[in-house]
Amino acid sequence: MGDQRSMMVIGGQWGDEGKGKVVDLLSRAFPAVVRYNGGHNAGHTVRVGERKFALHLVPSGIIHPETRCYMGAGLVVDPTALLTEIDRLRDEGIEVEERLSLSPRAAILLPTHRALDLAREGRRGESKIGTTGRGIGPAYQDIAQRRCLRAWTLASPAKLKESARRLMEQHNEELVTLYGVEPVELDAAVDEVMAAAQRLAPLIREVGPEIRRHVDGGDSVLFEGAQGVLLDINWGTYPFVTSSSCLPGFAAASCGVGPGYLGPVLGVMKAYATRVGSGPFPTEDFGPDGDGLRDRGAEYGTTTGRPRRCGWFDVVAARHAVETAGIDALALTKIDVLDGLKTLKVCVAYEGPGGELVETIPADAELLAEITPRYVDIPGWEGATEGLVSEEALPEGARAYLKFLEDRLGVPIALVSTGPRREETMARGRSPMARRISEILSEA
Ligand code: IMP
Repeated sequence: MGDQRSMMVIGGQWGDEGKGKVVDLLSRAFPAVVRYNGGHNAGHTVRVGERKFALHLVPSGIIHPETRCYMGAGLVVDPTALLTEIDRLRDEGIEVEERLSLSPRAAILLPTHRALDLAREGRRGESKIGTTGRGIGPAYQDIAQRRCLRAWTLASPAKLKESARRLMEQHNEELVTLYGVEPVELDAAVDEVMAAAQRLAPLIREVGPEIRRHVDGGDSVLFEGAQGVLLDINWGTYPFVTSSSCLPGFAAASCGVGPGYLGPVLGVMKAYATRVGSGPFPTEDFGPDGDGLRDRGAEYGTTTGRPRRCGWFDVVAARHAVETAGIDALALTKIDVLDGLKTLKVCVAYEGPGGELVETIPADAELLAEITPRYVDIPGWEGATEGLVSEEALPEGARAYLKFLEDRLGVPIALVSTGPRREETMARGRSPMARRISEILSEA
């Protein structure tokens, strides 16, 4: 099914799995890279040599000078944030504007969306979602409410000025009357949007026809998902989720191409688990093991700098991701963070409040918050995996850990990342995805 040359890279946990590195590594083999969901809530860190790039909206493929990058209709785009990112990349010697297209149907995220996000979170108090505060939820809400501004207006200054002001007036009314907070200063907000619009207007181009042209002409396309399955608006731990779909199927809807244009799905998962923001996290470790994972894994958010909650690999949650997203193979990242541990824990089942076996992630987040994980202990390994590039070189215990996860999840682990740098990576096994990855790595 689908185009076998193309590939989807998605997050299989709560985001922050290391997709940026994986996409950067693979994208050299893809003439086109596409972002299709979310907004600048995403944060992908890509390291090239000593240089480090933090990307939020621009597809990670942009680091490769030949790659064309596309942003689909399913994104919510803060014009100022996009421009700031483009300028930062230019300062690093990466020209973006010639190689980036933004769908005219993407939604514009306004300064008042940010204010609404913060006001709502403030009102929620204890039950706050812990959003990134970027305005993502209110922007997606405006799409559903059929009043958002689409990106094509960036190229129509008179229309943009009028409709941005009108919508922000409505937002201000809400801010004042519903949340009792200060309104956003409208003239400054309109000026901010207008200034960015002028520079972004040349990037507006329908992306579906471009993607079809690539694929029909024999090019492969890499679709880069943001966040992760457990943050998906329908299949995540609702309501503690983001406001877009994080499943690979959304790429077709977002870009305006048939599902046949999408490729096999590579799910990226960490060798343990992390989460930022609130919401149930069954395997969270509040003790020294959790702290150790945070320290060794440098688990602080790329977008907000928040410390991430840390815990053990959760097979039940991962299987949910594999099944609902149709993950064909896995990329397992940060295995080196587990080096030196005497024992690892892996959650293999959930126990409900009455001691009953719960086989899958329940739809009810309150129920999920009450489950007790059932762990198996796995021996750690002597020696380090850090920086290793072949499976044979891995300590036996690390190989056993990979095999254990693979058997439990029923999908091959085709890539293992042993450090933040491009070269600290191995293709693993003989699955079709592993062969493809191996080819790409050996061309580097
Ligand atoms: P929002 O997307 O800013 O509305 O945040 C909703 C939830 O998704 C919060 O728990 C955020 O921490 C989480 N979230 C959003 N984007 C990311 C991401 O890129 N990585 C990890 N968590 C994210």
